[in-house]
Amino acid sequence: MSSAVATEPRRQTGVAVEQVVRRFGDRVVLDHLDLTIADEELVILLGPSGCGKSTLLRLLAGLDRPDGGRVEVPARRAIVFQSDRLLPWQRVLRNVTLGLHGPDADQRARDVLAEVGLSGRAKAWPKELSGGEAQRVSLARALVSEPELVLLDEPFAALDAITRLRMHDLVRALRTRHHAAMLLVTHDVDEAIALADRIVVMSNGRIGTSHDVHLPAADREVSVAREELRARLLEDLGLASQH
Ligand SMILES: Nc1ncnc2c1ncn2[C@@H]1O[C@H](COP(=O)(O)OP(=O)(O)O)[C@@H](O)[C@H]1O
Ligand SMILES: [Mg+2]
Repeated sequence: MSSAVATEPRRQTGVAVEQVVRRFGDRVVLDHLDLTIADEELVILLGPSGCGKSTLLRLLAGLDRPDGGRVEVPARRAIVFQSDRLLPWQRVLRNVTLGLHGPDADQRARDVLAEVGLSGRAKAWPKELSGGEAQRVSLARALVSEPELVLLDEPFAALDAITRLRMHDLVRALRTRHHAAMLLVTHDVDEAIALADRIVVMSNGRIGTSHDVHLPAADREVSVAREELRARLLEDLGLASQH
């Protein structure tokens, strides 16, 4: 089977993963995995630790190549990790403009810093930021290049619960301004329900189940449908007996 990471020259914002295989030695981590993501869709990827979620994101980001199958992604992609990965010797503004070209780079960075609520922090050093602020800078850095696909690998896992809820509000606000597809990995079923258009659960190297989430915002917090979806996701994750 041929392997390919195709970057379409025409505008194509969706993602198509077909029969993708990734092995490390004898271990088959991705085993003929299929996944499509529509334009502007926010898909949450759930799965137990070590099942291959980061491996899939790295393939979509172009940081790794499949051993088989096809990965079709839009040209402009950005990835956000659990740790902020900011350059400690550059101020916030320079961390956001990193890799940007053109005379308007600074202004674009200031605009996106304002969107993430950090207008006043452009001159701060990374070590002066709280964990939540540092992740906001990471989001700003991801969005400043107007990506068509944003990959987020457990972006809020290291944050406290209240900060995490603020980040959820921010992701919702950013979605209305930036028209990117998003694939967000999390361990947190409640985070998944709060944010997703669709939740996919990985098992045995593939996407096992997929749940479209049509709940209106209020019902994502307290509703029977929400509890039913939560129970199904815990079952998909093999965690049902613990709850
Ligand atoms: N570069 C690599 N070399 C060898 N094994 C790897 C490499 N990257 C990931 N793996 C292995 O692949 C499996 C899936 O890893 P990963 O995608 O990081 O899981 P997840 O993000 O779901 O926790 C793990 O067993 C991990 O040890
Ligand atoms: Mg991972």
